[in-house]
Amino acid sequence: MNPHVTKLELSVNGNPVSKEVEPRTLLSDFLRHELSLTGTHVGCEQGVCGACTVLMDGLPARSCLTLAIQCQGVEITTVEGLAEANGGELTPLQKSFQDCHALQCGFCTPGILMTLTAFLKRNPEATEEEIRMELAGNLCRCTGYQNIVKAALATLGRASEIAEKSQ
Ligand code: FES
Ligand code: FES
Repeated sequence: MNPHVTKLELSVNGNPVSKEVEPRTLLSDFLRHELSLTGTHVGCEQGVCGACTVLMDGLPARSCLTLAIQCQGVEITTVEGLAEANGGELTPLQKSFQDCHALQCGFCTPGILMTLTAFLKRNPEATEEEIRMELAGNLCRCTGYQNIVKAALATLGRASEIAEKSQ
């Protein structure tokens, strides 16, 4: 074995993965280049924009700040895994993004979906303010977040809240 590589075993979107990686390999590069899971986007590469957010054992993490070898034995979920885990159907959050026009260029969307997926699971009663606070770590250059927040609220069955407040 090449002395500069390490055997990495983890689970990605419910599938066992076993691959040799260099210790310097970032999780974002591992997912995109080794596993062809290009739904995880890379923007700033310094932990600021949130585009690269994935779930590590169910919690959001910046894949651009995580080394692949830190994921030994970890369950990683990428945006591709959301529908896979939902019987091949888009999740309610993904459908709400479609319905509420929360998608524009879509670059930030995977990271926002991963952040919100974990957050709404932990906080099914989340308020608009709490959702906005949670999204503070995900930068979107296309929107004012209005429809993204609306989509999150719609997933909780409270889509009318934003409309009512603005009347
Ligand atoms: S690419 Fe990871 S936070 Fe921006
Ligand atoms: S939809 Fe374009 S950056 Fe967010």
